[in-house]
Amino acid sequence: MGREAKAASRSPSAVLITDANVAEHYLEPVTESLRAAGLAAEAVTLPPGEGSKTLEAAARLYDRMLKAGLDRGSVAVGLGGGVVTDLAGFVAATYMRGIPWIAVSTSLLGQVDASVGGKTGVDHPECKNLIGAFHQPAAVLADVSTLATLPQEELRTGLAEVVKHAMIRDADLMARLEREADALLACDTAVFEDVDARNVRIKAEVVSADEREGGLRRILNYGHTIGHAIESLAMESGGRLAGTPLTHGRAVALGMVAEACIAERRGRLAAEVADRQRDLLARFGLPVALEEPLDADRCLAIMRHDKKAQAGRLRFVLPEAVGSVCQTDDVTDDEIRDALALLGRG
Ligand SMILES: NC(=O)c1ccc[n+]([C@@H]2O[C@H](COP(=O)([O-])OP(=O)(O)OC[C@H]3O[C@@H](n4cnc5c(N)ncnc54)[C@H](O)[C@@H]3O)[C@@H](O)[C@H]2O)c1
Ligand SMILES: [Zn+2]
Repeated sequence: MGREAKAASRSPSAVLITDANVAEHYLEPVTESLRAAGLAAEAVTLPPGEGSKTLEAAARLYDRMLKAGLDRGSVAVGLGGGVVTDLAGFVAATYMRGIPWIAVSTSLLGQVDASVGGKTGVDHPECKNLIGAFHQPAAVLADVSTLATLPQEELRTGLAEVVKHAMIRDADLMARLEREADALLACDTAVFEDVDARNVRIKAEVVSADEREGGLRRILNYGHTIGHAIESLAMESGGRLAGTPLTHGRAVALGMVAEACIAERRGRLAAEVADRQRDLLARFGLPVALEEPLDADRCLAIMRHDKKAQAGRLRFVLPEAVGSVCQTDDVTDDEIRDALALLGRG
């Protein structure tokens, strides 16, 4: 990867941003690769987790970069999952009005989603991803062999986005996931090479048709309208829902089940397709129902609040078939309540 960093840079100094989990496995070989390419990298290792994606962390990075003598031609390297690459990209977008950066993506979610599309940013205490910039990396490197050290729960979170990509764009990928679910869970590198590449293609196609999120890019929000509300609801109870921890991927899985249910009840989606999606998510160890009913009023309030933040009508992406979705803004509160009630009937 040193070669790609060198190609992007016009200066011998670089910053290498990572987190402690990733550093344990990959900091040494990556530093060595940079050194071999003639780059002296200032390595900054952050505590793992979303808590590191803040303006304060960015400010500390600017200090380190300034002290290490980074100039406009220096390259920033983000080595890690989506948290690290979002932060590294944001720091690169803003340091001296923008320096080149490359993403070395080590989580499945990072490889198939976060590192593609050029969105970078940090969280505000009151709102995730509130502060950010579009800043395309000069290169994205994704070595699927790094998935071997990724915790299973993180692998599952990535798989939820992979199922989302198949549902919105690629029936063939869906069939492949169904055939190879066990190999994927066992982290089979050969299967992941192909699955990763297809996912990157899907996201890149959608994003390049609509880089600044006017229309088509919104289909990437499939499962996320309800998923985000469920995730926020869980955050209000310390990241847990009905007693169990709820990661982003788990919330998105529930969101996709609920949104497919709305489509099915409208007569727009065959029951067989909704069942295929549910079965695949369940095989990946993702939740498809909840033990206890959800607080539908609270979920709706969160969705309306999100809607206000977007200054528009509540927009849904509903599946029509495997690999095909439509966008609509006429879903009623009753339809949402019905879908949430079905989720809670586990
Ligand atoms: N920019 C975008 O378009 C975009 C899209 C989707 C998500 N995101 C952002 O991505 C973030 C989530 O990304 P994530 O799920 O990768 O989270 P993450 O970066 O926190 O990584 C998940 C966990 O896995 C660990 N990890 C990563 N790679 C590892 C490896 N190879 N071996 C061992 N441990 C490893 C990390 O240390 C962390 O504990 C969120 O902040 C989200 O907002 C951004
Ligand atoms: Zn997501």
